[in-house]
Amino acid sequence: PYVVTENCIACKYMDCVEVCPVECFYEGENMLVIHPDQCIDCGICERECPAAAIRPDTEAGLHAWLDLNRHYSGIWPRVHQKKSPPDNADIMNGAAAKMSIFSK
Ligand code: SF4
Ligand code: F3S
Repeated sequence: PYVVTENCIACKYMDCVEVCPVECFYEGENMLVIHPDQCIDCGICERECPAAAIRPDTEAGLHAWLDLNRHYSGIWPRVHQKKSPPDNADIMNGAAAKMSIFSK
């Protein structure tokens, strides 16, 4: 599957939600995650994310992010429609150490 990674935090553009054919995105306060068992690996969302936050889980070093996506997709509500991103999304795009502001 594909996984949402750190740069989604506080950017949350939600362009990914509009293109996913199986609606497998789940919404936390300041990031989204993908349900790994529902993702059909189409890769469309990876190209749409303005923050380049969506990666294939075959990429090295993503185990912790896969675990986080699995965990929170079991808890957070499924999201069907794109909403407006946070006002400071563009400023936060690429900011360092965003896990420190991760909000459930
Ligand atoms: Fe949805 Fe395809 Fe992205 Fe998986 S890779 S989350 S199925 S758009
Ligand atoms: Fe996050 Fe990118 Fe989607 S910033 S909400 S993964 S479009």
